[in-house]
Formats: sequence, C-alpha cells, structure tokens
Amino acid sequence: MDIAVIGSNMVDLIAYIDEMPKVGETLEAEDFAMGCGGKGANQAVAAALLGAKVLMMSRVGDDMFADNTIANLASYGVDTRHVSKVPGVSSGVAPIMVDKQSRNRILIIPGANKHLLPSDIDAAADDLAWCKLIVLQLEIPLETIYHAIDFGNSHGIPVVLNPAPANSQLDLVYACKCDFFVPNETELEILTGLPVDSLDEIELAAQTLMDKGLKNLIVTLGERGALHMHGNEKTYYPAPKVEAVDTTGAGDAFIGCFAQSYVSSGEIATSIQRAIVYASHSVTGKGTQTSYGDESVLA
Ligand code: RIB
Repeated sequence: MDIAVIGSNMVDLIAYIDEMPKVGETLEAEDFAMGCGGKGANQAVAAALLGAKVLMMSRVGDDMFADNTIANLASYGVDTRHVSKVPGVSSGVAPIMVDKQSRNRILIIPGANKHLLPSDIDAAADDLAWCKLIVLQLEIPLETIYHAIDFGNSHGIPVVLNPAPANSQLDLVYACKCDFFVPNETELEILTGLPVDSLDEIELAAQTLMDKGLKNLIVTLGERGALHMHGNEKTYYPAPKVEAVDTTGAGDAFIGCFAQSYVSSGEIATSIQRAIVYASHSVTGKGTQTSYGDESVLA
C-alpha cells in the first residue's frame, strides 16, 4: 500500500448562494448539491485518482449515509477494510455555503468521526505498517492523531499532517514529529496567533512555527500558490491563473496530490508544484471530490 489516510469522512450538503446570510437573515440558495466529502476522504480520493494505492481508516455512523460513503470510497479503488460503522451515532455531516466569489463557509458535525480511536490504529497495525506514507488531518480526535504520528515514527513511515480545520489545542510537539506540516493561511493564523494579511506576515508567522522545530512546513496560499520552509531555506511556488467557481476541498486536493507525488517520486519541490496545479484545477469545478481530476490534469 502506498498511502494510509487516517481521518474523516462527511456527507457534504452544499448550498450555492449569492452572498453569505447575515445574522437572523433567511436567504434562498440558487442551487444545492449533496456529495461525499470530509477532509480525510477527499485526500484519499484525490491520491487514488492519481494512481496511488490508498488505504483509508475512518468511521461512519449506522445511518442512511454509511453504506454510500463506503461504496463511494471503494468506487475510487480506496481500500475500505478499515472503514467501519459505529452503532448508535450519525455519520459525519458538513453543511457548506459557497458564495458567488467561490468562497465557502463550512460547519462540520463529526458524528462517527469522533469514534476513530488510538486503539483502532493498533488494531490495524499489520496493514498500516506496510504503508509508505501516513496522511492525517484534524477532523478526528487529537489522541488518535498523536498515536498515528507515534506509530509512523516507530515504523519509519513518513507522516503528513494537515492541521485542518485549525485547532489551537494541537500540541506542536507532535507537528514536529511529522515530516510535513501543511496548514493554509487561516490555520497558520490560528496556530500562531499572528496576522497573515501580507506575505511578509505569513513568513513571520511561518518562521515562528519553524522555530519550534518543524521538519518541513508547507503553507498553502490559495491563488498565490504555496510557501515551503525547510531549515533555513524558503521557497515560494506560484499557482496558475484559473477561473474559480468553488474552492471547497482545494486544500484536500493539494494534500492528496502531494502525497501521491511524494510517495512515487520522493521529490518535495516537484510534489508541491504538482499539488498546486491539481488543487488549482479543482476550484474550477463544483463540489469537493466531484471537482477532482485524474492524471490528465497534471499533463
Ligand atoms: O475541506 C473540505 C471538506 O471540509 C468538506 O468536504 C467538508 O466535509 C469538510 O470536511
């Protein structure tokens, strides 16, 4: 197996609206879509679409969404042996609003995702130990994430940690145990408490994280590309200009593509460049997984 994604799945309920409603306001949305999402599942699907062999470890509820979520992952060739149902709880659900400027606001109701536990990592150890890369996000319990990082470290498996959605409780000692720490600007701001309004401010905030001992920090910057910091090196990677219609899941497209590229090439710079192109393409389509392409996007 190439990649183990240990993380979330959600059912995305997406409303396309002209502008975000104000407090107390009722607005009519012009369109609605329901799709399979969740940061973990999105990243797994992106990597699988690009040809990686992906094992997903996740939890669904025992409701009407569960079977469809598992079938959807399997339809992309993702190994779902470690995606199982939790009795008596709902699956993860994410109501999302996307406005005319392709910006989104996301609410997550984690449901079964909260039931992915450290002991589940131990139970799957025989399969996880064969993976070349572990990919994590923050929609499952922090204890499980910490345990997965320790598992990766003790088995010599590199770890990518995408601190999304941002959680100020995240123990950065664990971020330093990861090979790649990949926040976006908002997550960088929440994790550091520093402003990120300009590239200078972003660099300053990024440097404070690096000073804690991160190995590789990759800050995704949306239409401005990405910043990679490693030791004393700092490299900006630009993004291609595209017509964005829905930016939801673009960060996950980046992570999935980065993971697939890194596992197959071991090249950090190339993997970042490919991930930017792949994520940029994803914002030209609506939805999360539905907006992801295959290798032809990178040609
Ligand atoms: O990153 C986008 C994802 O965030 C959505 O698919 C939604 O489910 C939330 O997890």
